[in-house]
Amino acid sequence: MKRTAGTVLAAVLLAAPAFVAADPDDDTLVVNGEIEITTKTAAPAHMQDTGIETIMSGWHFREDETQALQMDDFDNTGMIFVERAQEVWDTPEGSAGKSCASCHDDPAESMRGVRAVYPKWDDDRQEVKTIAMQVNECRSERMGAEPYKYDSAPMAAMEALITVQSRGMPMNVAIDGPARETWEKGKEIYYTRYGQLQLACANCHEDNYGNMIRADHLSQGQTNGFPVYRLKNTKLNTVHGRFKGCIRDTRAETFAPGSPELVALELYVASRGNGLSVEGPSVRN
Ligand code: HEC
Ligand code: HEC
Repeated sequence: MKRTAGTVLAAVLLAAPAFVAADPDDDTLVVNGEIEITTKTAAPAHMQDTGIETIMSGWHFREDETQALQMDDFDNTGMIFVERAQEVWDTPEGSAGKSCASCHDDPAESMRGVRAVYPKWDDDRQEVKTIAMQVNECRSERMGAEPYKYDSAPMAAMEALITVQSRGMPMNVAIDGPARETWEKGKEIYYTRYGQLQLACANCHEDNYGNMIRADHLSQGQTNGFPVYRLKNTKLNTVHGRFKGCIRDTRAETFAPGSPELVALELYVASRGNGLSVEGPSVRN
């Protein structure tokens, strides 16, 4: 199974006085009594050398009360932002006088399955594209509207609206073909130690998931639940916002949201969740 805790991490960060291991639970997540969410499944083939056999949603690592908030959309605070984004979707903006709906009609149909395959390679741009990049491309090039700030509240809300249309579908980002190079770059970042604490993503989310780090139960750092409503900051958080926070916790300078580095990291981390259901907007602490 897992490798033992890195000595640096154990010494610097793991809760004193006792080292507490707390296994993820075995609960199952069904949303609104009908959408079954795969929160645990076999790790994809490319993770063979990680020692992780089962990939798990961050949902398993949260307290029962937090988990319950995701079982019914009336309790899921993230859904408020989906409703707001639906209004934005239908409202014309920009010099072309168009709304998202002018071209994409009902997102329940046009956006179904989209979240499960992003980030993905874009042939025209010759680069890997995230949903946020695509939204801004549509806004600036097709609507004549201002692009959203990459990890802003309106962007997070629009991502939630797009994401919810794929809830329950398995994450399935492509990592072969032209996307491979970006994926390799993301993988390298995942295993690079950053900051004063000299910690890589892998030190926490691969070597130590299931353990407590201070008051927090460490998950595998999966992205299938994004955007995430966090009880801690009472807003919807984007993937890049979360990455930024995690890197900052190692006391390193962070890469900027929307930077090529974080796009590559997003693709790599998403690929570690291939097979888990799209779960966003999810609720975490
Ligand atoms: C003038 C028409 C037009 C408008 C308005 C428009 N889009 Fe698009 N959108 C497109 C086209 C065309 C594509 C396909 C682009 C491509 O494949 O490169 C697309 C693609 C997308 C995709 C990717 C879908 C997929 O299957 O990968 C998303 C997400 C998206 N748009 C979101 C939005 C949002 C959100 C808005 C409003 C803020 C919006 N679009 C407004 C024309 C439009
Ligand atoms: C010092 C340990 C540490 C490091 C290093 C770290 N994280 Fe985290 N991360 C956490 C903690 C603690 C949380 C909140 C609890 C949890 O979900 O694991 C978290 C949460 C996350 C989440 C949210 C998971 C969810 O389901 O909501 C993602 C995604 C994530 N981290 C990715 C990363 C990536 C990518 C890196 C490397 C750039 C990284 N983390 C580095 C400690 C760390």
